[in-house]
Amino acid sequence: MKSAEIRERFLSFFEKNGHQRVASSSLIPADDPTLLFANAGMNQFKDAFLGLEDRGYTTACSSQKCVRAGGKHNDLDNVGYTARHHTFFEMLGNFSFGDYFKEGAIRYAWDFLTVDLGIPTDRLYVTVFREDDEAFALWRDMIGVPEERIFRFDEADNFWSMGDTGPCGPCSEIFYDYGDRVAGPADPYEAIESGSDKIVEIWNLVFMQFDRDESGTMTPLPKPSVDTGMGLERIASVMQDVTSNYQTDLLQDIMQPAAAELGVKPGDNEQGDAALRVIADHLRATSFLLADGVRPSNEKRGYVLRRIMRRAMVYGRHIGQEGPFLHRLTDLVVEKMGAIFPELVTEKANIKLLTEIEEKQFERTIRNGLPILEKYLARFTAEQRPEFPGEVAWYIYETFGFPLDLMADVARDAGIKLDPETVKPEDTAGPDTAKGEGAKKTPPALEQAGFTTEMTCYGGLADSGTVKILLVGDEGRDSLNAGEEGVVVLDRTPFYAESGGQVGDKGTLVTAEGRFEVAETTKTLDLVLHHGKMVAGTLASGAEVEATVDRLNRRDTMKNHTATHLLHQALRDVLGLHVRQAGSLVDPDKLRFDFNHFAPMTLDEIQAVEDLVNGEILNNETVETAVMGQDDARNSGAIAFFGDKYGDTVRVVSVGSYSKEFCGGTHVGATGEIGSFKIVSERGLAAGVRRLIALTGPKALERFRESEDLLRVAADRFYLKRDSFLADLEKAQEEKRALQQKVEDLKMKLAKGGGAAERIETVGDFQVMVKQVSEVAGGQLRQLSDELLKKIKDGVVLLGAENEGKVQLLVKTNRKDVHAGNLVREMAAVVGGKGGGKPDMAMAGGRDADKLGDALEKGLALLQG
Ligand code: ALA
Repeated sequence: MKSAEIRERFLSFFEKNGHQRVASSSLIPADDPTLLFANAGMNQFKDAFLGLEDRGYTTACSSQKCVRAGGKHNDLDNVGYTARHHTFFEMLGNFSFGDYFKEGAIRYAWDFLTVDLGIPTDRLYVTVFREDDEAFALWRDMIGVPEERIFRFDEADNFWSMGDTGPCGPCSEIFYDYGDRVAGPADPYEAIESGSDKIVEIWNLVFMQFDRDESGTMTPLPKPSVDTGMGLERIASVMQDVTSNYQTDLLQDIMQPAAAELGVKPGDNEQGDAALRVIADHLRATSFLLADGVRPSNEKRGYVLRRIMRRAMVYGRHIGQEGPFLHRLTDLVVEKMGAIFPELVTEKANIKLLTEIEEKQFERTIRNGLPILEKYLARFTAEQRPEFPGEVAWYIYETFGFPLDLMADVARDAGIKLDPETVKPEDTAGPDTAKGEGAKKTPPALEQAGFTTEMTCYGGLADSGTVKILLVGDEGRDSLNAGEEGVVVLDRTPFYAESGGQVGDKGTLVTAEGRFEVAETTKTLDLVLHHGKMVAGTLASGAEVEATVDRLNRRDTMKNHTATHLLHQALRDVLGLHVRQAGSLVDPDKLRFDFNHFAPMTLDEIQAVEDLVNGEILNNETVETAVMGQDDARNSGAIAFFGDKYGDTVRVVSVGSYSKEFCGGTHVGATGEIGSFKIVSERGLAAGVRRLIALTGPKALERFRESEDLLRVAADRFYLKRDSFLADLEKAQEEKRALQQKVEDLKMKLAKGGGAAERIETVGDFQVMVKQVSEVAGGQLRQLSDELLKKIKDGVVLLGAENEGKVQLLVKTNRKDVHAGNLVREMAAVVGGKGGGKPDMAMAGGRDADKLGDALEKGLALLQG
């Protein structure tokens, strides 16, 4: 049975049993700083388990994309060497949010496996948590599993949690027995406990009961729930009667064409086969992560992706791939999985391109680092060292990014041992949790609010509301007095709270008794928090306030927000569809936009983008917002952002027919209001990420004015004409260079011609030219010595130069019986300096300009002997 059929059977089995079929969430967890990647089907339902979210259904099923290559569940290093480890895999799961519990979960799982899929019951074993007598009894009495096929295990095996914090509970696992085909302990308990491939876990049923916090305290969930997970690759091995996930169609359909493309014969040797497994697995992870918007980088998710990609490239080298090759294989993943995961098809070209770019970069890394590594290897071989020193390995790794495992391979070939594990001073996978975030505690008054703020920010700039909560610091108050700074929460507000990159509104909250000035607006738990100061009178809980948003502040912010949407689309038009927003900040003064692109933008590209955006502004296109179902929104082609969490209904903002995005922000009514748009800065932020800053409306005008003024003042002051500004400047620069050259020439002439300071002495059968100059240095001094030597034909030139208080000495000779280096050293001592050089030419420096004459005399005296 093909994997596609198993997946579909699973989903329709649970659908038939009343479960909502839910699409896999992105591999980038939405709004969850505790998690690096989606690592289980339950991730997207975390809030439903915690009772924080009502999804409109209480049972669900999905086939979830998962990556376990960093963080709590990390399988990276095992991939290639075991039958069932993957960085990327699919998890089939059914979920109950307070609906059925242990009994339902167990019954469904058994039915699906033994009836729907027809797996013989005598091939199955189950495990339960040590103390879970209830689950034990259900398996034995309700299902009829013989007692000797049910095993108890402790927390390490039968208690599941998503991460260090969050929903968790005891679990019960179902195992499949491959029998004697696979080596392993004969005793089933031992086969399971040792983690052998003989009896393999296929399905985990988690009885979600607790929410664990940072301190380890476990609070019971509002309702006992169920989370299950069955690896599609594992159940496919069972159904396809093969003993390794890599033999299923899921991996084979990638491995076989990949082997053909790379010229490898599967089954030829174990090293080649392991490489193929690694490459196929990592290709899947790479393609899916790229499709979900992760970009290789040196931080967090990007770093894990980079490690996966580079590991695949290293294994490529094992099978003779010296240059980029992975990008030739990414389409195989799209072909195999695209029908189920359409994002692969949309991103197909990007996946290929970004893979190739990363491969080329890696190649450069290798090219730069390899010669250094080889130099050390040669030295250590000569010194007969058996082991490569960890600190040198670390140095090469840090300086060139040269991967340690590849370093170990190269070292091994040279007969020197390098254990990458002992080199790493720390876990280089980067932090699992985004530090800081989530660490801040919400004040109890907000946590226990029991209401949400009605947001009327899209309707207008003023509204009335009732004061529900007042805070000073974290402390709840009944009233705020003049001079106090704090937070006001209303039941309804027209203030936009900071989100989606748009800053929160400023404005005032006014009653007959007092006035509160709002400096910042944020959102916590669907409550809008007005941060600011009581500037007059008092404000009491329960009071009716007139809430008024600062109009200009909001107006300019909206111009920038709508312009951001136009910019995003224009970048995709000009640079390509790989461009994707990586961050955005919209405030009244400017817009800042970070996006994925691998090269600095050229001036032409920047102008083309500006023209497109300004074209839309001049057309005065209408901006429309619509609230619709998430699927409809996606199908309409609206751009959604990875890592953002969207409810079942979403807000879509369209600007004319040019741009359409998921967005909760506030926008101008028509593009003409933006006025104008100008990019003022473009720079690199991180590998593959660029940052643009742009201005609109009054700020753009201010900027034009400033530039104009600058141009006018510069033109006036330096007598430049506007239409020949640059040419005039260039001319002036050219003239300056010519004058400098003239000065140098004159100095030289002076030095050569200054007869007074030039002396020729005869010593034995040769002549000595002694000359003192000033303002001549370095290369010119050497040139001068050549010319002076020509004058005397046979002999020695002793030159002394003074330059801004510094002294230089030069000795030049064409005689074999004089050593210029030795001579200059002795002369330098006179002027408090050092120097030396070759027998025919040597230079020295010194400090003592007054002794320059003495130094030359000393030289002469030494020659005269
Ligand atoms: N969330 C559970 C697991 O990943 C089902 O094993």
